[in-house]
Amino acid sequence: MNKPASHCPVVAIDGPTASGKGTVAALLAAKLGFHYLDSGAIYRVLAVATAQADLNPDLPADLQEIIPMSENLPVQFHGNKVLLKGVDVSEVIRTEEAGIMASRLAVVPEVRAGLLQRQRDFRLAPGLVADGRDMGSVVFPDSILKVFLTASATVRAERRVRQIEERGQQADFQAIYNDLVARDKRDTERAVAPLKPCEDALVLDCSNMPIDQVVGTIHGWTQERI
Ligand code: DC
Repeated sequence: MNKPASHCPVVAIDGPTASGKGTVAALLAAKLGFHYLDSGAIYRVLAVATAQADLNPDLPADLQEIIPMSENLPVQFHGNKVLLKGVDVSEVIRTEEAGIMASRLAVVPEVRAGLLQRQRDFRLAPGLVADGRDMGSVVFPDSILKVFLTASATVRAERRVRQIEERGQQADFQAIYNDLVARDKRDTERAVAPLKPCEDALVLDCSNMPIDQVVGTIHGWTQERI
């Protein structure tokens, strides 16, 4: 018999931008046969919807339009594709502009509340691996395993440069490094769900670890708790 969704095991992987948590979480989900939630993609889709509607989260009147959008965001995940109102936005959500707008929206408590249920809906049998900033602290506080995956700012900026270059675009290391540090500061210092390891999280610094070793380590920890 399938377990009720609220009892399905969740592995929460939180951490700063470009720590590799997305790749690690997706590989771990495949290895466990679990579903996968990229919660940052949801924030990014809202960012694209906000930009498309020409709304500015710093303006109170615009924010009053953005909040209901967060509660009813028409986002769908089809394999690797992310759709907004049925339109493929998989590439546009990965731009630096979308990331910066997502980070601005993420400081608004009503936006975070608006996106909460959408994220919890991903908790389906046989289980879920969820990556983000507040998976272990807010969205799935009863996760069987909470990991805080981090890496030095230099390693993360290098990783981001590689990702951009692999897309055939040019990347400026210093600009990316500066943006990453600014985004970390905003994510860490915000009043609601700030980015920090939960008390019961296992912290893993993967600056000098190959990806399969990171996945293997977290897989081992998960097996101990299932
Ligand atoms: O993980 P990412 O870079 O795709 O996330 C984009 C932004 O969304 C990031 O700056 C912070 C925000 N975010 C968040 O506040 N909480 C989450 N669970 C996921 C993302």
